[in-house]
Amino acid sequence: MDLLEQIDRQRVPQHVAIIMDGNGRWAQQRGNKRLYGHENGVNAVRQATEAAGKAGVKYLTLYAFSTENWNRPKDEVEGLMLLLVESINTELQTLIKNGIQLRIIGQTQGLPLQVQQKLQVAIDKTAHCETLTLIVALNYGAHQELADAARQMAIDCLNGKLSPNDISPSTVQQYLYTASIPNPELMIRTSGEHRLSNFLLWQMAYSELHFTPVLWPDFTQDDFYKAVIDFQHRERRFGGTTSV
Ligand code: FPP
Repeated sequence: MDLLEQIDRQRVPQHVAIIMDGNGRWAQQRGNKRLYGHENGVNAVRQATEAAGKAGVKYLTLYAFSTENWNRPKDEVEGLMLLLVESINTELQTLIKNGIQLRIIGQTQGLPLQVQQKLQVAIDKTAHCETLTLIVALNYGAHQELADAARQMAIDCLNGKLSPNDISPSTVQQYLYTASIPNPELMIRTSGEHRLSNFLLWQMAYSELHFTPVLWPDFTQDDFYKAVIDFQHRERRFGGTTSV
């Protein structure tokens, strides 16, 4: 029986987040530059997005560029930015046709102006799409996100919109980049690394974590379904207990 059919349609995670890791190693194994790995990673982005749509996932967040990634060699950073914009441009019609809404989380104001403008076009053109929301984390870091949230809460306290006594976890949630998005129930990381790497730290407090040794460019739709099936076998207790 194929893996998609093994998914229990009643318990599909609404939101899946992915740390796409291993592009560099995949390229090195082939004696190629790291950018070659990223280029082939775009194909895996397509596979994951298509699989998420078929499985009935509503939100898919992909960690494409972290606040720490600026430390990589200049040509890799520039190549990655170009690849992102080109991929989004090339796929725009496919996104619209398949009802995929594009959103970006992270410090977008820190991205090159041309990248910001091109992304905005794709965001606007897919704003009406409702089948799946594809959230690309770009220049994203969870510490930065929480610092931004704290700053905005402080500003709103000073201007009288918020009272310090009223700040609760649900208030903090509303100040995150992901304010209107449910927290991910499942996080997948490829390439055999077992770290969160400053990704959605607040949002993943109760997420199930799925690690696979597959390098990102090799990630297939079946790898996505395997992660969902693994998730469906977990017992989720949120700090409570299911025994009586
Ligand atoms: C991690 O591999 C991967 C990245 C930092 C970039 C991921 C970006 C893409 C796949 C480009 C396209 C994305 C979209 C959303 C269109 P790594 O370089 O850290 O690999 P390594 O750990 O083997 O060095």
